[in-house]
Amino acid sequence: MNWFAEWRELVLRSSFRKGQSPFTSKEFVEWYELQLEHNNYPGVLLDKVQRHLDEHATVLDIGAGTGAFALPLAQRVKAVTVVEPSAEMLARLRRKMDTTDIRIINKRWEDIDSGEVGRHDLVLAAHSLYDIADIETALKKMLSAAKKHLYIIMGAGKSKFYADIWRRFKGEEYHPPPGFIHLYNVLYELGVPANVEMIRTPRNQIYVNIEQAVKHWRVRLDLAPEKEGDLRAYLLDSLEEKDGKLYWREERPTAVITTGLLVGDAGSAGHAGDVGSAAGGTGC
Ligand SMILES: C[S@@+](CC[C@H](N)C(=O)[O-])C[C@H]1O[C@@H](n2cnc3c(N)ncnc32)[C@H](O)[C@@H]1O
Repeated sequence: MNWFAEWRELVLRSSFRKGQSPFTSKEFVEWYELQLEHNNYPGVLLDKVQRHLDEHATVLDIGAGTGAFALPLAQRVKAVTVVEPSAEMLARLRRKMDTTDIRIINKRWEDIDSGEVGRHDLVLAAHSLYDIADIETALKKMLSAAKKHLYIIMGAGKSKFYADIWRRFKGEEYHPPPGFIHLYNVLYELGVPANVEMIRTPRNQIYVNIEQAVKHWRVRLDLAPEKEGDLRAYLLDSLEEKDGKLYWREERPTAVITTGLLVGDAGSAGHAGDVGSAAGGTGC
């Protein structure tokens, strides 16, 4: 199996990739923030990342979004750099930063030169690799930017909601982007032994009202206006109302893929092997 080619194929075939990137829209960013709040995100995932970090550490957050990790990490470590292509996500991050000092690079990871970001104790990519077709180049660059730890967080498990709504309104199967299993194998091909930890996390969807839910899904499904009535009825039937908001409740595993220290090793970052040299290992 050629895992690099498999990854590329899954990225290109992914159902959501066929639409416009949602992260460029102000409404989507508003909605995304609401999801973070109601899913207690990053919660335990942040605990996992920050246990290796002290006030001398530096962190690179790739696809940082509105700063779910970058903001709390910036309170703890010496310096945080974020790479984020969406101006809308960054506008929201800047509003939340207040006096926090974070270096921001408004680019896609693929367009970054290694020299531009330097090397960091920990490199993080949380739910941000799903759209990168050339994963080999992207990961090699991440590995050379990581002095001690590489943390990649990805969804695992299938969403019943996505599968059902896609079948109902697009008349086809929902194709998810590549998942943790592909990333694990891609790292293996690169000679990097990775650890994977599965954590059960809430993956609820929340909408402030039915108008927001209909608009969100009309755009995501790229639906013709005459289908809006059907979509509204479907969402009213599928979502649960509570305290004036609409919910789809789901719990799915999230995979934390790490290189460097073994998962569960509580040792300090100073004892970790250099991730960059692991990348050049034998892969056996
Ligand atoms: C689901 S959000 C996750 C944001 C943040 N990491 C978090 O955990 O809340 C995915 C983010 O990855 C960014 N992204 C997408 N493609 C990217 C790329 N090629 N390079 C860097 N960031 C990317 C998007 O703009 C978006 O902000």
